[in-house]
Amino acid sequence: MNLIGYALDRGLRGRRSRRDLRSTRAFARAVPPGDHAPVEILTERLLLRELTEADAPACNAYEGDPEVVRYTLHDVLTLDQTLARIRRIVAAAAAVPRLVHDFAVVLRGTPDEGRLIGRADFCVGQPEAHQAEIWWILGRAHWGRGYVPEAGRALLDLAFGDLGLHRVIADLDPQNFASARVAEKLGMRREAHYLENTFQKGAWVDTLIYAILRREWAARRAPQDDGRRLVR
Ligand SMILES: CC(C)(COP(=O)(O)OP(=O)(O)OC[C@H]1O[C@@H](n2cnc3c(N)ncnc32)[C@H](O)[C@@H]1OP(=O)(O)O)[C@@H](O)C(=O)NCCC(=O)NCCS
Repeated sequence: MNLIGYALDRGLRGRRSRRDLRSTRAFARAVPPGDHAPVEILTERLLLRELTEADAPACNAYEGDPEVVRYTLHDVLTLDQTLARIRRIVAAAAAVPRLVHDFAVVLRGTPDEGRLIGRADFCVGQPEAHQAEIWWILGRAHWGRGYVPEAGRALLDLAFGDLGLHRVIADLDPQNFASARVAEKLGMRREAHYLENTFQKGAWVDTLIYAILRREWAARRAPQDDGRRLVR
């Protein structure tokens, strides 16, 4: 199960702080783990930013696609359902401490600059254990270009670098080869294969657990890649 759905369903609420974050280091200094202002992360080709209600049509373009939601917990969503989901995400992002970090994946530096193509998120499901679950989804037209691994690297930098988490897992259907490939590209290890532990869309399905520790992530990032990215 995706913990982010769990956290959102719990209706997390809280105060929203608004700091303008100019750099990763400033972010780390200014903000205690799990309590921070709206974030924008720049990668080579992408902007990861907070979702807004205005994103509903773009999100529904993929959440309404049966091929895209084949392995997700939910079936195709209507525009209203997508909007309701965004509202829960926005509310969860305002919680203190912030446990849900769910970002729009937006193209930049192309003729499609500014176009929302998917979402990437992690949820701190076990704050006391500094552990989170990462998740991703992308519109079909953009599959196979390495966008989600690129977004995932930025999320892991945020999780391990700025938020100081210890372990991040991904939970996926073994049939979802593309998602497993993303986990592998991020250096996540396959730790478990649970048999028929989830009842999803009318059938019992297996679950693969991939995981990566903070020290493993740090080792992957050094030395030529110091993990630097822009957070503004
Ligand atoms: C899983 C997903 C996020 C991958 O994102 P991505 O940016 O396409 O990732 P990559 O470009 O690194 O491609 C990953 C793998 O997808 C597969 N793939 C590539 N192009 C593809 C295409 N056009 N159609 C189907 N699969 C494709 C390949 O196996 C690829 O691995 P490879 O690079 O070793 O060949 C995306 O396929 C997706 O949104 N799927 C539907 C939502 C979903 O299942 N989310 C995860 C729930 S756990």
